[in-house]
This record gives sequence, C-alpha cells and structure tokens, in this order.
Amino acid sequence: MEETLPDGTRRVTEVPAHHGRAAEDDGLKHVQPTDEHVIEVRDVEVRFGSFTVFKNLNLDVRRGEILGFVGGSGQGKSVLMRTILDLVPKYSGTIRLFGEDVDKLSVPQRALLNRRYGVLFQMGALFSSLTVKENIQVPMKEQGSNMSKQLMDELALMKIDMVGLARNAADKLPSELSGGMIKRAGLARALALDPDLLFVDEPTSGLDPIGAANFDDLIAGLRDTLGLTVYMVTHDLDSLWNVCDRVAVLADKRVIVNGPVQDLIDYDHPWVREYFRGVRGGRFVDAE
Ligand SMILES: Nc1ncnc2c1ncn2[C@@H]1O[C@H](COP(=O)(O)OP(=O)(O)OP(=O)(O)O)[C@@H](O)[C@H]1O
Ligand SMILES: [Mg+2]
Repeated sequence: MEETLPDGTRRVTEVPAHHGRAAEDDGLKHVQPTDEHVIEVRDVEVRFGSFTVFKNLNLDVRRGEILGFVGGSGQGKSVLMRTILDLVPKYSGTIRLFGEDVDKLSVPQRALLNRRYGVLFQMGALFSSLTVKENIQVPMKEQGSNMSKQLMDELALMKIDMVGLARNAADKLPSELSGGMIKRAGLARALALDPDLLFVDEPTSGLDPIGAANFDDLIAGLRDTLGLTVYMVTHDLDSLWNVCDRVAVLADKRVIVNGPVQDLIDYDHPWVREYFRGVRGGRFVDAE
C-alpha cells in the first residue's frame, strides 16, 4: 500500500522495524524506533548559484532508527547531510533537530545542539598529523571542557574499544592505518561526545565485503547499545538490506519515496527500479 503524506512525499506500507541481520536473535535488546522525529526537513531548497540541488525536499528521521539515504551519484545526498548540519546554507525551508527549529536557536543553544550529534564524513577526514587518540580528543577539546589529560585519554580508549579497534591503534597516525581502521577511528571521533544522533556518509565505501558487513554490524550494535538514531548515506545495497529500518530515496531533486527496503523494490520509478532490480540489486530481490 502506498500513501501520500501531508508533506507531499509518498510512503509505502510500514512493517515492523529490524528486518535482516539486525533482527536476528543475537541477545541484544533492540531499540524500537519511535514516532518521535529527531530530524524533520520541510520544503527545503538548496542552490549553488543558479543550480538547484533540491527543492521541496521533505524527510523525517525517527528516534532509534537507522535511516538509509540513497540516490544517484551527484544527486545531493552529501549536500543534504551538510545542509542538515548547517554547513551548507539553505535557500528556503525549515529544519528541525530534536524538535527545535535550527534557525531559531541562539548561539549557546546551537552549541548545545551540536553536542548531540556526531558525524562521520564521506572522506573520513581525520587530521593526518594527529594520532588516533588525539583525533578522538579534538571534539572534547573543542567543547572547551577542562577535562584532565588523564580523563581524556581514558575516554579516548573507551571509544577505541567501542568501535572495535585495538588499543595500540591509539598512538598511530592515520597513515599507519588500513581503510577499515580509518573508518573506525572516524566513528570513534564521531562518538566522542556521546551523541544521540549519528550521521554517516558512505561508511562502507572502499571496504571489502567482509569489512563492510563488519562495519554495518558495528553501527547496528552501537544503535542498540547506545540508543542512537543513525542517518546513513549509502550506496551499499547490503547495508540497506541488513541494517536499515527505512530507506529514503533522493531523485528528481526531492525525496520521492521512503519505506522499508523490501517495500521499495516495486516502486515505480526508473532509478529505483534500476537500483533495486538491476544487475547489482537484483540478487537481493531474487533471493526474497
Ligand atoms: N560547494 C559546492 N558548490 C557548488 N556545487 C556543489 C557544492 N557541493 C556540491 N555541489 C554539487 O551539488 C551536487 C550534489 O553533490 P553531492 O556531493 O551532494 O552528491 P552525492 O549525492 O553525495 O554524490 P555521491 O554519491 O557521488 O557522493 C553535485 O552536482 C555537486 O557538484
Ligand atoms: Mg556524497
């Protein structure tokens, strides 16, 4: 069943959350997404000069869910993430984070809000001259907290454990790490301030299938143990099937549809059909 929502987007039938690997009986207590919206994007338009990246774009992300955000290369997935993070200005529209209209916040309120989310950017973006431990401590220092060096070292090691890195990675430079270790270190830095909301842009790109599956499991496990909400930009069909509760599709300069992945495969749009039923996507559909 499809319905058109008041915001103009279309939604296909909802099914219980946590299909796929995240729903297996692994002994973890799974966080159930709620109807509370951690992110609300309403009628947002972003332009670069005369080029409109998207227009009338609407999107909701619910507390506790892993939302997969897909779309063709260059369609604006990273730009939207940066717009939500206030790193790219919007031309019009409203963005609410944790129920707050971000345009109406004072500077101190905005600073408090910034502490509530962590970001793993598409390129990893660790500081190359800092060790892993020092990279993780950057957000702690930016907060201007007067934590002792010992406390910050202990916290950094906790984050290193949390993302499954060996402790001896703490004193390594990014150039001494593998691609998968860099992603984990970036994730540890994103978690430095114990956020409620995690943004990740193409977290599994460049990883081999086993590394990518491990990283997906890590994100799902963190969501379950920390109660995170995760906004995941991805091209990775395995991630969509295995860990995402819902998938939103960016095409034609807006979010054309969102819903559980198994309900999107029959959605009638050329890009969606090609993506889910083409050579790469078809294997999931055939396996159903
Ligand atoms: N700072 C900028 N100035 C001008 N144009 C930009 C800027 N940033 C992005 N764009 C353009 O906006 C469009 C969307 O870019 P974006 O990086 O969001 O794509 P994407 O969907 O993330 O692609 P990919 O899947 O390849 O990462 C592209 O046409 C890009 O060239
Ligand atoms: Mg991108």
